[in-house]
Amino acid sequence: MRSLSVWLSVALATVVIAVPSKDGAHKLKESIPAPRGWTKSAPAPADHIIELRIALPQPNFAELERHLYEVSDPFHDRYGQHLSKEEVESLVTPEPESVHLVNEWLASHGLYEDSLSRSPAKDWVLVKVPVTLAEEMLKTEYHVWTHDASGESVVRTTEYSIPEHLDDHVELVQPTTMFSRMRSLKTTFHINDVQEKVAAAPAAAPPISIPSASGGHVDASCNQTITITCLQQLYNAVGFTPSTKHGNEIGITGYLEEFANIQDLQSFYADQRPDALNSSFTTVLINGGLNNQTLSEAGGEANLDTQFAYGLTFPTPGTFWSTGGRPPFKPDTITTTDTNEPYTEWLDFVLSQPKLPQSISTSYADDEQTVPASFAKRVCAGFAQLGARGTSLMFSSGDGGVGDGEEDPALQECFTNDGRNATRFVPLFPPSCPFVTAVGGTIHVPETAVFFSGGGFSDLFPRPAYQELAVTKFLKTLAPGTYQGLFNPNGRAIPDVAAQADLFRVFLSGRPVSIGGTSAAAPTFTGIVSLLNSARLEKGLPPLGFLNPLVYAIQALDPTAFNDITVGNNPGCGTPGFNATKGWDPITGVGTPNFGKLKDIVTLDFLHIPGL
Ligand SMILES: *[C@@H]1O[C@H](CO)[C@@H](O)[C@H](O)[C@H]1NC(C)=O
Ligand SMILES: *[C@@H]1O[C@H](CO)[C@@H](O)[C@H](O)[C@H]1NC(C)=O
Ligand SMILES: *[C@@H]1O[C@H](CO)[C@@H](O)[C@H](O)[C@H]1NC(C)=O
Ligand SMILES: *[C@@H]1O[C@H](CO)[C@@H](O)[C@H](O)[C@H]1NC(C)=O
Ligand SMILES: *[C@@H]1O[C@H](CO)[C@@H](O)[C@H](O)[C@H]1NC(C)=O
Repeated sequence: MRSLSVWLSVALATVVIAVPSKDGAHKLKESIPAPRGWTKSAPAPADHIIELRIALPQPNFAELERHLYEVSDPFHDRYGQHLSKEEVESLVTPEPESVHLVNEWLASHGLYEDSLSRSPAKDWVLVKVPVTLAEEMLKTEYHVWTHDASGESVVRTTEYSIPEHLDDHVELVQPTTMFSRMRSLKTTFHINDVQEKVAAAPAAAPPISIPSASGGHVDASCNQTITITCLQQLYNAVGFTPSTKHGNEIGITGYLEEFANIQDLQSFYADQRPDALNSSFTTVLINGGLNNQTLSEAGGEANLDTQFAYGLTFPTPGTFWSTGGRPPFKPDTITTTDTNEPYTEWLDFVLSQPKLPQSISTSYADDEQTVPASFAKRVCAGFAQLGARGTSLMFSSGDGGVGDGEEDPALQECFTNDGRNATRFVPLFPPSCPFVTAVGGTIHVPETAVFFSGGGFSDLFPRPAYQELAVTKFLKTLAPGTYQGLFNPNGRAIPDVAAQADLFRVFLSGRPVSIGGTSAAAPTFTGIVSLLNSARLEKGLPPLGFLNPLVYAIQALDPTAFNDITVGNNPGCGTPGFNATKGWDPITGVGTPNFGKLKDIVTLDFLHIPGL
């Protein structure tokens, strides 16, 4: 995407400017305490290239949000009347004055249009500059910071300034103060015990009676090994074949150099979905994303997500986006590796596409407190744009219960990052963004909440209206004073829904493995959403788009459309966490899907909700 010539022109341009900038007085934009768990070392090497992302304000975002809620609210006349790409762009485009003033500032540092790239709505400007120039522009000093636990290094600063006259015209500049560490949410990874387990499964065990399942029962083996058939039975989707005639598609995001292996997908299909054999998916590379089909290099996360999402939705066309870029700084290379969280790279790419898959799953996240608030809000605003265009976005809720995303409790960090070191539960972002659907996890048949299922309350985003009723009902079940000070009872509550999240039988590098994590729950729930979208499109109805207002409305009026999970808790931070309860709870949300019931509801000509 960003060519060598762009880099060269930046390098040349920066050589040319010898005159000091005429920026005038600077104003402090952001300052953070030294982040926990990171150690500052040497100043950044002067020739290190950094890609700055500059966010220009979106003055009409409130208007976009209003449209989003109207077209996503099943009680509203405009339900399903999603916006076009152009309509969305016009609602997030910055003021011409902001574009002009930022251009002027960049030009004063020798950075002209040919060395910049912009997001489709021009609300982000990207420019690659040597760290010395970034320091001059932002009146700051970059250092190499090393993450104590992992040894990974990034080039960052703890504060930056911009020219005073730009204060209202620049929302944020990154990478500056971002010390987050994106991770994939697969918590357990058993490679060797699979064959024995399957062999040991009592072949003739009678099916387990589950009244909500297809035919009222689920194969006994599903209590130990989750396959496509298990999910179809459990979620009442046996016998439904999605249509390929109406443009329905499903998308899976991949990050951190992972790619999905096609040979493994065929082994998986041979094992669990023989009618899908020889079918495949489209890999799209973004920002230098990898797709090395070498079998031994296949990604566990990518294989899990694609095998189950595409396996559940065959023959629906599938896309896998392999997005490159991650923070670690590699001092020995000239290429820019020191990027922001790659969600924005992915967002820039998909928002520029005229047509999008209607259902998209992501199984990666960060601790919310490590993502600068201004950045998290802008990324969340990007997800709102996708929702307004009619795409449903599912994110895994996390694998650390009420603690941080760290699967090993000994490594969990339940302290605030604000310099006070206060003990605090750690919600994850993006699931904490109110414009995405956060998917928690269950285990076993009958289903119970799985202990690692991420859940809790955002410290950044207030509780959206759509979940007010369900969440206040839950909060009333807590004894007075429960976990006081450990969570924000007024925050966006996580998760919204749940699905199976452990013991998934996946093929990886040629052999079956058993994988668990809310990583498994997100593509599973997304697969069910894609089947619902197929049923809607087949009836000439628009896709579901941003799901949450519908999810909570259905739960309130027809509680049997989701399987309520009432057993289990999600320990973390040295506490037992929250309990699964009747109704919504911060481990499994409103529960797991009953596809048959949901399909009947969402395919009524006007979206009729029983009881209305
Ligand atoms: C499923 O497995 C769990 C855990 O091993 C066990 O407690 C439960 O009894 C099993 N359920 C059935 C119906 O066999
Ligand atoms: C897949 O391809 C093989 C080899 O071409 C063929 O023998 C087999 O019938 C195909 N299977 C399906 C389900 O199309
Ligand atoms: C994939 O990567 C491996 C090791 O990194 C390398 O040996 C192999 O040649 C690469 N294969 C392809 C097709 O690029
Ligand atoms: C917070 O914890 C860090 C790391 O353990 C320590 O260096 C720092 O002094 C603590 N700060 C406060 C205010 O207790
Ligand atoms: C969870 O349930 C147990 C058993 O009923 C109870 O003792 C505990 O207080 C509950 N925890 C919370 C956070 O409500």
